[in-house]
Amino acid sequence: MVAVADPVADRRERFAAEHGIGSERTFAGWHRLLEEERLADAVVVATPDREHAAAAVAALDRGYEVVLEKPIAPTPDEMRAVVQAAERSAATVTVAHVLRYTPFFATLKAALDEGRIGELVTIEHAERIGYWHFAHSFVRGSWRREDGASPMLLAKACHDLDLLRWLAGDRCTAVASFGGLRHFRPEEAPAGVLDRCWDGERRCPVAGTCPFDAVRLYVQRTAELTQWPVSVVTDDPSRDGRLAALASGPYGRCVYRSDNDVADHQLAILEFANGVRASLGVSGLTADNTRTVLLTGTRGEMRGRLDTGEIEIRRFLPAADAPRSGPNWDRDELGRSAMRDDERVVLRTGAERQDGHGGGDDGLMADVVARLRARRDGEPGAREAARTSLAASVESHRMAFAAERSRHERRLVELTTDGPGR
Ligand SMILES: NC(=O)c1ccc[n+]([C@@H]2O[C@H](COP(=O)([O-])OP(=O)(O)OC[C@H]3O[C@@H](n4cnc5c(N)ncnc54)[C@H](O)[C@@H]3O)[C@@H](O)[C@H]2O)c1
Repeated sequence: MVAVADPVADRRERFAAEHGIGSERTFAGWHRLLEEERLADAVVVATPDREHAAAAVAALDRGYEVVLEKPIAPTPDEMRAVVQAAERSAATVTVAHVLRYTPFFATLKAALDEGRIGELVTIEHAERIGYWHFAHSFVRGSWRREDGASPMLLAKACHDLDLLRWLAGDRCTAVASFGGLRHFRPEEAPAGVLDRCWDGERRCPVAGTCPFDAVRLYVQRTAELTQWPVSVVTDDPSRDGRLAALASGPYGRCVYRSDNDVADHQLAILEFANGVRASLGVSGLTADNTRTVLLTGTRGEMRGRLDTGEIEIRRFLPAADAPRSGPNWDRDELGRSAMRDDERVVLRTGAERQDGHGGGDDGLMADVVARLRARRDGEPGAREAARTSLAASVESHRMAFAAERSRHERRLVELTTDGPGR
């Protein structure tokens, strides 16, 4: 890291100190940094959603390789501007769809490509956001309003749409979607709630029966924690610091009286050009914060859960000479009964790490650095696109925009091949 841009002086200085960056290379915003001659091989654009596209375009025009946080942009038009900038630049964009780099999804994809369940027929995928996480980011936090960030499906589930496109192995041709804001609205408020869980003097009278009570979430349950999500609530993690932030800041607001408008649940069904069909369910009203997936194929089925890291494969007929176990997997015949002969194989990819998106953040950055080095050293294959290239990511964003259109217009939306966002 050789330079940093952030309008918040504290964050900028902390980052500069951690990476030994001199003050002449710290900037009060991405505009200022990108006015300079090129300072490095690559930039990471990790600004808020609405600041992605312009920064990415300016960085590409300066010749930087770009690692771009998702979403590429909150609207089709801005996404198109990034695509056009990439077309006129020799540099490439890697989008931070980090889940493709996790051992869990990489193993699932490899098992599918090896033909372990024959040919893929359907995918049922669920993103279980978790009730406290949803309240944190999508009711009280930065992603609560479409006009301030992105629609929920794009902000949260562009990862999942990207995974569906990747697993399906072909482009998406049609989408239908339902969803909306069911629970986090004024009509749902229990009688007697206050505007804040803690207003500096009073605790909300329904706190004891409200799962979203901010004092329990940010002061009591997380007393030992200073990292995310507490670090988003306050820079002062003392008890008094937390209570002061709840009394005046967005994270102390009643979840029924915030100014949120993004959907708290959304379902979509999708069809791909090769005939694969998929469903995606996203809900903020789940106990766990994880993802689950079930793939069915012509010779078996495969299911997995990201938080346990386990993938279970059941083949309708066992492979005659398959070994019984390996370093990270076991095979048994639990499925055998009068009419069934199936075998079960459990692959253990390692439980999801609670930080770094299940190993995906490290995987993505290792891949970016390896490709930069290969290019510098002129190695064969050095110009290969990232697993999560701009072109691949544009497809999943188009799926999200189409699902949003379907939800709002209450109709099936067909995806054409004539460019981003249409
Ligand atoms: N890939 C993933 O799984 C993943 C996970 C979390 C967040 N994200 C994405 O990363 C982005 C940042 O999320 P976050 O949670 O870190 O948000 P954040 O608000 O904590 O961080 C954004 C930072 O950008 C800075 N900033 C604002 N305007 C700027 C400007 N003009 N120039 C330079 N810096 C500027 C802010 O001061 C802040 O420090 C979002 O787009 C989000 O969607 C992706």
